[in-house]
Amino acid sequence: MAKLKYSAKKKKKSVLDRTINFFANSTYHTYLVGGYVRDITLGIEPIDIDIVVEGDAIKAARALNKQLKGKLHVYKEFGTASIITEDKRVDLASARIEKYNSPAQLPHVYPSTINEDLNRRDFTINAMAMSISRDNFGELFDPFNGLQDVKNGLIRVLHKNSFIDDPTRIFRALRYKNRFSFKIEKRTKLLMKEAIDKKIINHLTGQRILNELKLIFQEQKYEDTVRDISNFKIYRIKKKDLDILQNLGQDGFYYYLARIKANGMPITTEEKKIIKDMNNLPKTLARLEKTKKNSTIYYSLCDLSETVLEGICRLRPGFGDKMKIFRKLQKVKPFITGNDLKRRGFPEGKEYKRILRAVFTQQLDKKITSRKQALQYLKTLKK
Ligand code: CTP
Repeated sequence: MAKLKYSAKKKKKSVLDRTINFFANSTYHTYLVGGYVRDITLGIEPIDIDIVVEGDAIKAARALNKQLKGKLHVYKEFGTASIITEDKRVDLASARIEKYNSPAQLPHVYPSTINEDLNRRDFTINAMAMSISRDNFGELFDPFNGLQDVKNGLIRVLHKNSFIDDPTRIFRALRYKNRFSFKIEKRTKLLMKEAIDKKIINHLTGQRILNELKLIFQEQKYEDTVRDISNFKIYRIKKKDLDILQNLGQDGFYYYLARIKANGMPITTEEKKIIKDMNNLPKTLARLEKTKKNSTIYYSLCDLSETVLEGICRLRPGFGDKMKIFRKLQKVKPFITGNDLKRRGFPEGKEYKRILRAVFTQQLDKKITSRKQALQYLKTLKK
């Protein structure tokens, strides 16, 4: 018994408990909001803790972190801060009003109360708040009946301009629809279609679209959302590509970007290469299907990134033997190098690459099995 008592004492309070404790005993006016309240009402354990502060969120974050002792990140220009602890992330934002001057542009923001802050949000299910302040601890703020929509499984916007103000909400609506197996409420669906018909997504920066697509591919049911995006005629995708995406898993993101021919997205050089290889994937698979030759297997795969190689394994488990051969061939060291060509008087230049490849091909296909034979073969080329 004594031992049990000891371990219970030792057990650290959760980050949530410590956060709530801290604010409930302070003079800050703070609320759990957005995804946090939504997930709790759905009976899902929230991953992040979202907090809105009526007042200075950065100051509140600094004070809270004295207790949590996590890693504090401050985003002054947005008036937000995050605390990363070993098992949870706590996001704090100042309550704000957002004013959209033109469609799809980032809004101007002004300090506000919690009620005004809830008005600026995307969907009713994300527009609920629960006080963790001393004065009204536990009070639920649900001005748009979000709780009812959670119960009925509905995604509903707060006002008719929601998708025009912020077209990323089109992607968000579809993401939530599939994550929770919800429906998009009738009027919301109409507003969404109207916004899509107005080509409102073209007003978004490539970065913002890319962020949304990345988030979609982090979801378990990403392929359902990809299908919805296609059905809503945002980015059309063929049935056969959907099948491929389904099998590719989350790395299918790059295959998707290749298929929707995304322009203007800030993509790294490394990602560009993956997209290009993904684009050629059907051809690569066809070539591998036909061949038994070591050199063809090797040259089909040697320039591909690991992401694409893993994709091939997922798409064609039957290629296991060929992949094993490839992994062995990757370790093969060429019998001859450029220096050998130089020493034997081959004129330096572009030809080197072609000759070295010709010899290495013979080596891969086991037609040449020693350096001696390779040098012999060189002589035939020189003639
Ligand atoms: N929000 C919004 N419009 C957006 C993005 C976010 O109104 N385009 C609001 C929503 O109220 C949302 C909150 O900001 O609940 C936090 O956004 P985010 O962290 O993206 O979403 P979560 O609700 O935490 O959901 P997820 O589980 O997808 O992270």
